[in-house]
Amino acid sequence: MISDPDVVGLLYLLAIICFVLALRFLSSPRTARRGNWLGGLGMAVAIGTTLLLDGISNWELILAGGAVGTIVGIIGARRVKMTAMPQMVALFNGVGGGAAALVALAEFHVADGRLASEEVVSIVLSALIGSISFAGSLIAFGKLQELLSGRPIVFAGQNVANGVVLLGSAALGVALVAGLEEQWALVALLALALAFGVLFVLPIGGADMPVVISLLNAFTGLAASATGFVLDSTVLIVSGMLVGASGTMLTLLMAKAMNRSVANVLFGAFGQVQQAVGSERVDDGRTVRATTADDVAVQLSYARRVVVVPGYGLAVAQAQHDVRQLAELLEQKGVEVAYAIHPVAGRMPGHMNVLLAEANVPYDQLKEMDEVNPEFAQTDVALVIGANDVVNPAARNDPSSPIHGMPILEVDKATSVVVMKRSMAPGFAGIDNELFLDPRTTMLFGNAKDFVVKLIGSVKAL
Ligand code: TAP
Repeated sequence: MISDPDVVGLLYLLAIICFVLALRFLSSPRTARRGNWLGGLGMAVAIGTTLLLDGISNWELILAGGAVGTIVGIIGARRVKMTAMPQMVALFNGVGGGAAALVALAEFHVADGRLASEEVVSIVLSALIGSISFAGSLIAFGKLQELLSGRPIVFAGQNVANGVVLLGSAALGVALVAGLEEQWALVALLALALAFGVLFVLPIGGADMPVVISLLNAFTGLAASATGFVLDSTVLIVSGMLVGASGTMLTLLMAKAMNRSVANVLFGAFGQVQQAVGSERVDDGRTVRATTADDVAVQLSYARRVVVVPGYGLAVAQAQHDVRQLAELLEQKGVEVAYAIHPVAGRMPGHMNVLLAEANVPYDQLKEMDEVNPEFAQTDVALVIGANDVVNPAARNDPSSPIHGMPILEVDKATSVVVMKRSMAPGFAGIDNELFLDPRTTMLFGNAKDFVVKLIGSVKAL
């Protein structure tokens, strides 16, 4: 047992340093694994120290809870498919928010009316934010797992209903802080906050869920931090704040990379509006040129420089291992190969980095958007695999486009562009892509994995 507060403080400080360094290392694919290990180590120190504090009892319950959590965590993390990672994060995040709300409820119950008003503030914040995060994350999970419709679910008077529910729970919170030390009031606050979490996420389209999850993640961090005040735990306060701050920054970065405001993501019901825009198609006589794997293999093999542009379709097709194999073959033929990574390609932050890291693509071949864009003019072939919105020149050229202003990978500046996708169907934003009509572009219509495998065969045969 540890009873010296200085030793406890020192161990918690060690855990906090691990968390801060973990975040630093997680910001680059090269060091991300180390960051993950350090974060885990920090968590082990924080949990271990807390368990060894004087006064901890109920070991059977703690060990049973720990065992259930460990088993679920290990099985979940091992079995989850890479494309299902966002919903797994949603679930884990929701559980954190729910735990914060339950701790608040328990502390309020145990104190039985003997709480200072600043303690009640922490309890109210913990219960309110934790419950919103829990319920919202479960809805986000349901949408991504297709248990619920991914389309925005809207109804008349929705914003008013949301406002009433939120104001109701806030009013209960104020009453509790003002001295209404009744358990029913906290339970009612919790119920209203859960309802708000559901109502808040329902009108948001499934494809916007990564932004919502990141925001809810920030909420969970704040709830955990408030719980830290309730439990008088420095490590919980600081780590909650780290989650709150990094979640907020990630949310803002994602919104910026899509050139949309966070308010537009949350209240714009994006999936709905876009269908109408996509249907207004102008036929100006330009044609789409389809090509064959054999022709593209020749193009690639005799190129000096090829830039692979991965997108959501690559993740769907799970073609990352074959893409690496194709790139290695080309390199053996003396072709310089790089990968262009758009910050919001795919459906979750760092999606393409994770996908390519899984296939052991060398990190120095991954180029961020700002680094690679000036290099497209010296690129012979831009090989676009399952990407659409992130290479749509309308973002640059068409002020009426819903994605106008979104930074894109400027593949249309390459000498030639090959696009691999199954049809002319639009991507996430639901809009046509001028790139497919560009005279420099040829299309390989089909599943990305099938075509990459065919390309490997054709390049080998040359
Ligand atoms: P998208 O624009 O969504 O396009 C993906 C393309 O992949 C589709 O046009 C689809 O065309 C093709 N595809 C699907 N399955 C395929 C398969 N098996 N083989 C070949 N092609 C396949 O993807 P993107 O360019 O990566 O852009 C991402 C979009 O998601 C952006 O609009 C971004 O704002 C949004 N978004 C991203 C995030 C994060 S954090 N990454 C979060 C929220 C929203 P076919 O159906 O014709 O094959």
